[in-house]
Amino acid sequence: MRRVLHAFNYREVQTPTFEEIELFLAKSGPGIREEIYDFKDKSGRELCLRPELTAPVMRFYFGSGLKVEPKPVKLFYFGPCYRYDRPQAGRYREFWQLGCELVGDDSPEGHAELLHLALGLFEEAGLKNYNLRVGHLSILRSLLEGLGFPPKEQSPLMRLIDKKETEPLGEALRAKVDARSADAFLKVFEYRTFDQLKQLSGSAQTQAAYAHLQRVWRRLEGFGVDLKKVQLDPTIARGLEYYTGLVFELDAPDLGAEKQLLGGGEYDLSSVFGESPVPAVGFALGFDRTLVALEKSGGLATTNQPVDAVVAALSEGGVAAAQRLGNRLRERDLCVELDLSAKGAKRSLGRASTLGARVIVLLGDQEVAKGQATLKNLASGEQVTVPESEVLRRLESWLQAVPVRA
Ligand code: HAM
Repeated sequence: MRRVLHAFNYREVQTPTFEEIELFLAKSGPGIREEIYDFKDKSGRELCLRPELTAPVMRFYFGSGLKVEPKPVKLFYFGPCYRYDRPQAGRYREFWQLGCELVGDDSPEGHAELLHLALGLFEEAGLKNYNLRVGHLSILRSLLEGLGFPPKEQSPLMRLIDKKETEPLGEALRAKVDARSADAFLKVFEYRTFDQLKQLSGSAQTQAAYAHLQRVWRRLEGFGVDLKKVQLDPTIARGLEYYTGLVFELDAPDLGAEKQLLGGGEYDLSSVFGESPVPAVGFALGFDRTLVALEKSGGLATTNQPVDAVVAALSEGGVAAAQRLGNRLRERDLCVELDLSAKGAKRSLGRASTLGARVIVLLGDQEVAKGQATLKNLASGEQVTVPESEVLRRLESWLQAVPVRA
């Protein structure tokens, strides 16, 4: 995933695990307080373990030289987050997020490239079964406004929409509007195409959102994204309250209730830091859930890195030569296991086979006396004794003959 992020010119940043709680209370919404691990330090400061990294990364952005760099600025992060949730399958109190923030670009092209990147991360990881849903908050917000709910009354409704709790949502709507208008609003939950979306009220914001989404789709197509895996979903509300426009979520249908692997969207946190507006968009993926999804689909690559060579001293006399050779091979970035136990070839061969090493280099009294080493290719069984100066060449030619590192 890091490789993909570098290919898209994202730079990695790290921020502290704990922050002032105010940072999150400012814009993430009141719901976040219950989810936060908070505490006071010895000076009575109200701190917390970070529940997410967007606000910390933006704090870093505005507090560093990054904010005067030419835009867009592209940042990514990978680190632990903490939420005081009721733990269940796929929902942990400590979990890892990998995410990125694109600062200073609100174009459909920038958004499409970010979505393309999000999909690229899963493709690279080997996850095949997923679907991405993309929407735009202006659509919901302008519909709610049309029904007579001004922005400051929309939060509780947006929370119900986020959780897809359509029954309590219907009740909340009917408390203010007639049943027909409430039902018409609830119909949006069935909309999945641009044609359906077109039927919605022609408010200027809805039209702009519609045009923006259509451009994003065109650009996704240009990137070669498989549009069968991307769905229009005007009912994405997102749990955090800082989102402003484009929003998206990615699910792995193979997982149970906690199937959302990634979430993100457009936001602007500049006011939290007393700065003038800067558009930003980003996402975070739940790394733990991604691993579970990969495991379920059989796509989790082995985590054991292959051992290129075991370098074994067969006797006391071979120890110094084995150390020297080990150093040389490791300088070449080869993965080397040293066996300096000097307990004989049988034991060292047994260890090499347990490790699944590709080659073993044996250094006994005889070899050392002649300035030689014995190499055995553990895949083919071929064994040769060569001068020490030729060990590296022979080893590398054997390693190249088999696929080196997955
Ligand atoms: P979020 O949707 O709250 O967004 O979290 C992103 C992802 O983190 C979720 O889709 C999920 O996979 C994972 N996740 C969340 N809570 C848990 C948990 N308790 N256990 C395991 N995994 C979890 C954000 O955090 C935003 N900061 C994303 C963003 C970046 N928006 C803009 N930029």
